[in-house]
Amino acid sequence: MSHLFSPLTLRSITFRNRIFVSPMCQYSSIDGMPTDWHLVHLGSRAVGGAGLVMVEASAVDPIGRISPDDSGIWSDAHAEAFRPVASFIKAQGAVPAIQLAHAGRKASTQIPWLKGSGLADEERGWQPLAPSDIAFADGYRVPRTMSSSDIDATVAQFVCAARRALAAGFEVIEIHAAHGYLLHEFLSPLSNHRTDEYGGSLENRMRFPLRVVEAVRSAWPAELPLFIRISATDWAEGGWDVEQSIAFSKRTKALGIDLVDCSSGGNVATAKIPLGPGYQVAFSREIRRNAGIATGAVGLITGAKQAEGIVASGEADVVLLARQLLRDPYWPLHAARELDVEVAWPNQYLRAKM
Ligand SMILES: Cc1cc2nc3c(=O)[nH]c(=O)nc-3n(C[C@H](O)[C@H](O)[C@H](O)COP(=O)(O)O)c2cc1C
Repeated sequence: MSHLFSPLTLRSITFRNRIFVSPMCQYSSIDGMPTDWHLVHLGSRAVGGAGLVMVEASAVDPIGRISPDDSGIWSDAHAEAFRPVASFIKAQGAVPAIQLAHAGRKASTQIPWLKGSGLADEERGWQPLAPSDIAFADGYRVPRTMSSSDIDATVAQFVCAARRALAAGFEVIEIHAAHGYLLHEFLSPLSNHRTDEYGGSLENRMRFPLRVVEAVRSAWPAELPLFIRISATDWAEGGWDVEQSIAFSKRTKALGIDLVDCSSGGNVATAKIPLGPGYQVAFSREIRRNAGIATGAVGLITGAKQAEGIVASGEADVVLLARQLLRDPYWPLHAARELDVEVAWPNQYLRAKM
């Protein structure tokens, strides 16, 4: 019996297995709109047998895009454009999900394959918003410190985005609070130097992200799951760490988060990250055990037996794969074969099933 291929139910949604497509920016949107690329890219991974297919970080406001070519969901037209994507994913038996994001001080950057970092106004750039006016690194733009009305407006943007995600047909939302983007910037004392009620103590640093969680939860139907992605550590002295992540996860659970997706890093440009197979799994294990909440493990999970072991040992409820699913959209079907599990193939592909 495979743990990886056993179904999981959160609220009213049952996932056919515990292999989730991790959100991955495609830098292929026009004014935030999904294109044919998104339908084919995400659709292929649903055909490939994943339990959940998550749309990349999608900005709740244009200013919250990482690059000008990022995905967004700041208008009803975006929701309408996402409908066929969500519908196709669901028709293939996968659960359609979307990550709602705001890039904070890491906004207004060039897309990766064109290199370069911060974009000037005349290069399609804009001034980012952040908890404090500290640039992420050399070459990035200096952000404007958010006022309390900016904070209120951003909470409202997350709520509107959640309503649009529902209208588009998504069944899971993940709030992006990782990788040095806006919510993570508030959590970490290294990027949050505020002296008001949103900075200083852990309670104050958590205030804005928890407001977003609470507001999105109240706008998102009670029968649908809500995830949050965190960076469990900044990998830097004096930064956000596992202990604070456990405290934060407990608070998000009390507000109705169903699963914490445990990533790390992204907020400190000079951090030394000990990359290796499953290098973030321990964060998932610690948060699952100590916060008593379902978790996802992500990061250099590439093998079927490795993924099976993570779920079977109770280190995570699900695994999220990113680059391995770029290499092989059919990884779940191949993993099932390797683990000797019988899974359904799309009818159209049955003649290729071995
Ligand atoms: C092309 C690409 C785009 C990514 N975009 C996002 C994103 O939109 N949101 C996010 O939380 N993580 C993003 N990530 C991080 C992945 O979701 C994942 O956490 C990371 O790649 C580690 O998993 P892996 O070793 O399976 O690739 C991205 C990674 C890649 C390779």
